[in-house]
Amino acid sequence: MKTVDGFHKMKVERKKISMVTCYDFWTAKIIDDSDIDAVLVGDSAAMVMHGFETTVNADVEMMTFHTAAVSRGLRNKFLVTDLPFLAHKKGRDFLVQSVDKIFKAGAQAVKIEGAGANLPDIEYLVKSGIPVMGHLGLTPQSVHQLSGFKLQGKSEEKAARILEDAKLLEQAGCFSIVLEMVPSDLAKKITDKLNIPTIGIGAGKFTSGQILVLQDLLGMSKTFSPKFLRKYSDGYEIFQKALNYFSNDVVNNKFPSEKESF
Ligand code: KIV
Repeated sequence: MKTVDGFHKMKVERKKISMVTCYDFWTAKIIDDSDIDAVLVGDSAAMVMHGFETTVNADVEMMTFHTAAVSRGLRNKFLVTDLPFLAHKKGRDFLVQSVDKIFKAGAQAVKIEGAGANLPDIEYLVKSGIPVMGHLGLTPQSVHQLSGFKLQGKSEEKAARILEDAKLLEQAGCFSIVLEMVPSDLAKKITDKLNIPTIGIGAGKFTSGQILVLQDLLGMSKTFSPKFLRKYSDGYEIFQKALNYFSNDVVNNKFPSEKESF
């Protein structure tokens, strides 16, 4: 899928949308040849690639840097980039300059966490020709206000707020909304009420699509195993094995061979 229209078409045709995060060139090339529909340069890059505890440490420079690397490897997929922490709270000029940098690096849309006070900016961007993806439920940039990475919308009142926000984001012009860590019945209700597709993570199976952090689905961490995650490979073991085979061959003078030498 290469366009915003592709998202709408898949919702209308009730086809599930698959998305993964990506932060670099070589994995972008692998994803580009896969069946995955679209790619997010998530601000989770701050945690996954840079080792920070939260996404608060992502900034426009970091997002631009990773977007540029990913877009060099991506020819066939739609590319969305996260607008990082507070980039939409520093005034319109800063917002526009940030989106400008991220788009010139190769993004085709930006994702913005939350609704409320962001709605005028989202509307402004959409009217300026910038596709915007919303993000509700667990919004990791607000992790400290939310008291941790945990399920959102559990009470009736909070669920109603998230549903209302989803409607407002659709009205503001978002082409899609990520729903993170919300009960599946709430995600279903939102998905049924909206014309735009919802992309879930920890939001059950009734959303229009699913997204996972690439390294999580590949099983690159031995310790990170939240309930919502399915690991599709044991990446940690695969990497360890390859590294140890290499090290062992070097130690035992088995690499390089005659054939691998000049
Ligand atoms: O930054 C990120 O990786 C995300 C996804 C988890 C949706 O926002």
